[in-house]
Amino acid sequence: MKILAFETSCDETAISIIDIKNTGEQNTITILANNIASQVELHKQYGGVFPMMAKREHMKNIGPLYKQALKDANITDIKNEIDYIAVTSGPGLEPALWVGIAFAKELSEKYEIPLVPVDHMEGHLLSSLLPAYKLHEEIVLRDLPSNSISLLVSGGHTEIIKIEENGKYEILGQTVDDASGEAFDKVARMLYLPYPGGPMISSLAKIAREEELRDIVFPRPMLHSGDYNFSFSGLKTAVLYHIRDNPIKDEKEKMQIARAFEDAVVDVLSAKVIKAIHEHGANYLLLGGGVSANTYLREILHTKANKNNFQIYEPLSPLCGDNALMIAIACYFNIKNNKPIPKIEEIKANGNLKISL
Ligand code: KG4
Ligand code: ZN
Repeated sequence: MKILAFETSCDETAISIIDIKNTGEQNTITILANNIASQVELHKQYGGVFPMMAKREHMKNIGPLYKQALKDANITDIKNEIDYIAVTSGPGLEPALWVGIAFAKELSEKYEIPLVPVDHMEGHLLSSLLPAYKLHEEIVLRDLPSNSISLLVSGGHTEIIKIEENGKYEILGQTVDDASGEAFDKVARMLYLPYPGGPMISSLAKIAREEELRDIVFPRPMLHSGDYNFSFSGLKTAVLYHIRDNPIKDEKEKMQIARAFEDAVVDVLSAKVIKAIHEHGANYLLLGGGVSANTYLREILHTKANKNNFQIYEPLSPLCGDNALMIAIACYFNIKNNKPIPKIEEIKANGNLKISL
């Protein structure tokens, strides 16, 4: 089954084409194309993503990127070679989402290929099933382990999800205010670091850890709330007040703040996810989303996994951030699980879509 997938939910225009099949017990995938046009450099100037600017860039990039993807995949007869078109329908920035949806709808109608709307977060959740990243080579996908827990951490979301025996998802908890990635980005701005803030904060925090700079401690919001919800807005405010009361004088102080902030985020994320793993008797943890690239988070979770006897599936680096390959994979699982495909006129952008199967 060949799937052409589009992703335009935030600041990456992404297109992927995969050939995926079920051979007995296994799902094998061949990545025929996987292209991303990132808008990061543009949004960097403004310290964040403006939806209308993102939309304009998607409109500019999507056509050339589509042509390139067909070329990479060596596809000339779209109508007969592509079985499904997949598109992210949410959650995300609605003006940005509409660019992918409109483009995909046009192709779907022109070539009479079914259009499958895909949940961006389901894409992130399934992205860790890909064990290797090679183009034009057959790769055996990992099976989706049932009764497992997923931690999805991105610029817009922070969720703990239970993957049930029947492969259905249940959101156990989520952020009540800012997402973890959003907190990284906002704290980075306070430290005059460029967007996106996660990688920069992470590298400063690493140096602070190596140099044992640990004078600052920030609160761990909702650590003992007894549920699986998160709150990062208070932590962000704590950083803001700290900087207001102690203006930053040198790089060392920046590093200390970065470390203290990252320590607090990772402490809360890891404590809650371990609690979910224990309470639900899960053997697997699936990581996904931009923040899952964070090396300190991975390090702490791996230490806990060794101690507590569970296994971690984590996305490879090309799949941590937004991409269309994960949307193509999620489309395949939707079809395989007989998730109903809505009529084309019913497919629309939904900025607040909640994961379901
Ligand atoms: O999943 P993603 O690419 O886009 C959304 O769907 O939001 O996530 C982007 C987020 C940004 O907030 C970025 O700062 C964060 O992921 N991020 C990181 C790291 N790399 C990216 N956060 C912490 N540590 C990182 N290494
Ligand atoms: Zn994302």
